Amino acid sequence: MSSVAVGFAGVTKSYGGKTVVDGLSFTVAPGECFGLLGPNGAGKSTITRMLLGMARPAAGEITVLGVPVPARARLARKRIGVVPQFDNLDLAFTVRENLLVFGRYFGMSTREVEAKIPSLLEFANLENKADARVAELSGGMKRRLTLARALVNDPQLLVMDEPTTGLDPHARHLIWERLRSLLARGKTIILTTHFMEEAERLCDRLCVLVGGRNVAEGRPHALIDEQIGCQVIEIYGGNPHELSSLIKPYAKRIEVSGETLFCYAPDPEHVRLQLRGREDLRLLQRPPNLEDVFLRLTGRELEK
Ligand SMILES: Nc1ncnc2c1ncn2[C@@H]1O[C@H](COP(=O)(O)OP(=O)(O)O)[C@@H](O)[C@H]1O
Ligand SMILES: [Mg+2]
Repeated sequence: MSSVAVGFAGVTKSYGGKTVVDGLSFTVAPGECFGLLGPNGAGKSTITRMLLGMARPAAGEITVLGVPVPARARLARKRIGVVPQFDNLDLAFTVRENLLVFGRYFGMSTREVEAKIPSLLEFANLENKADARVAELSGGMKRRLTLARALVNDPQLLVMDEPTTGLDPHARHLIWERLRSLLARGKTIILTTHFMEEAERLCDRLCVLVGGRNVAEGRPHALIDEQIGCQVIEIYGGNPHELSSLIKPYAKRIEVSGETLFCYAPDPEHVRLQLRGREDLRLLQRPPNLEDVFLRLTGRELEK
């Protein structure tokens, strides 16, 4: 197998004169979970559509599973499973019927799909719902059915656009567990998300997108070390501007977001000492996380 499952090189896309993907390059190795992390409008869905050959780049090269896209997108799509941002299941049909119809898109016979349905339903934890209409399913069940549907053609690559947005924590954990089992089976996953916890848990590598540009790329923990690299103290209460001048000498950086002050502190004890006895404040000291990286790169109100 080629050592690159997906390659983007200098890919650009505009809509109505506005550049939404701007000279984007990245590669994904087989078996990796690669994250595209970015706020709404960053270009994540546009990137997944270009990867599938459903949107045409204005410039740049895209290779998916060894073939050029969009030129040979039909061939690539046979080996890709897709979970689109918005479920497009047929609500009037049952769970089983949705899987059957989808299998036929891939040229599978009814018999072939039927043979797969029990294992797909088991994977999606929907064994008891085979004959339920999709309209009766919860949001989490619909999402798991979309995931099962994406596996009908036994794809090598899964492209998932915000697979857990809108789900409650329980439903989200179930999806994460399923995605991990797919990775354990050697599947390659491209995942878009704006949930930092999701990216931190699942992604081997990720890139952070701002306005369609790749502003940082790497393993989650390497990015956290590079971009933050010290403890974070969150300070609640008080006047953030007054506090900020008090602790400035001991902070690597200070940010204010709403009523919370974030102090990036190589030596947190010095900061705590400055604020000793301040009954009006509540301090939370914690290790840095991907959300700090994301907010740094995508912009939180900057104080310093
Ligand atoms: N078909 C389209 N026509 C016009 N503008 C679009 C179209 N698709 C996306 N856009 C614009 O491109 C930008 C990126 O959108 P999108 O890729 O959906 O971002 P994300 O998935 O990260 O939220 C947005 O400003 C959006 O309005
Ligand atoms: Mg999107």
